[in-house]
Amino acid sequence: MSQLSILVLHGPNLNLLGTREPEVYGSTTLEGINQSLKEEGNKLQVKVFCLQSNHEGDLVDAIHRAALEHQGIVINAGAYTHTSVAIRDALSGVQIPAVEVHLSNIYRREEFRHHSYIAPVVIGQISGFGSNSYLLGLQALVTHLRTLKSQK
Ligand code: DQA
Repeated sequence: MSQLSILVLHGPNLNLLGTREPEVYGSTTLEGINQSLKEEGNKLQVKVFCLQSNHEGDLVDAIHRAALEHQGIVINAGAYTHTSVAIRDALSGVQIPAVEVHLSNIYRREEFRHHSYIAPVVIGQISGFGSNSYLLGLQALVTHLRTLKSQK
């Protein structure tokens, strides 16, 4: 049986983690988050690939490619969460499930962050647990995929 493969997508400005508003996003760097995701992937016995881009079209391209190469997506679309119909359409246009994650609790912040274009087209959303949101998102996605498989 081949291992599940999961793509973790990080959107704009998340490359700055560690120094970017640490009071909001914590002090863990993106590299640190990716390392923890790989370790969690090992425990769950899934392959984890991480990609960060500041460009909307690159994220759309990555979602399209993911449908051919991976079984699921964990996505923190950063500010594109609140603006991008293109990323929402990409996620709803591919046949693989996604989980939306946020480091901060977007509902406790400015009003413009309360709306997610992505939320209606993903399995679920995890928001507010710092870098742990990514690990919780990965666990939830893998459980979802394994439950689907066992129902087939
Ligand atoms: C974020 C929340 C967004 O509102 C913000 O634009 C980000 C990060 C989070 O992880 O908390 O860039 O997605």
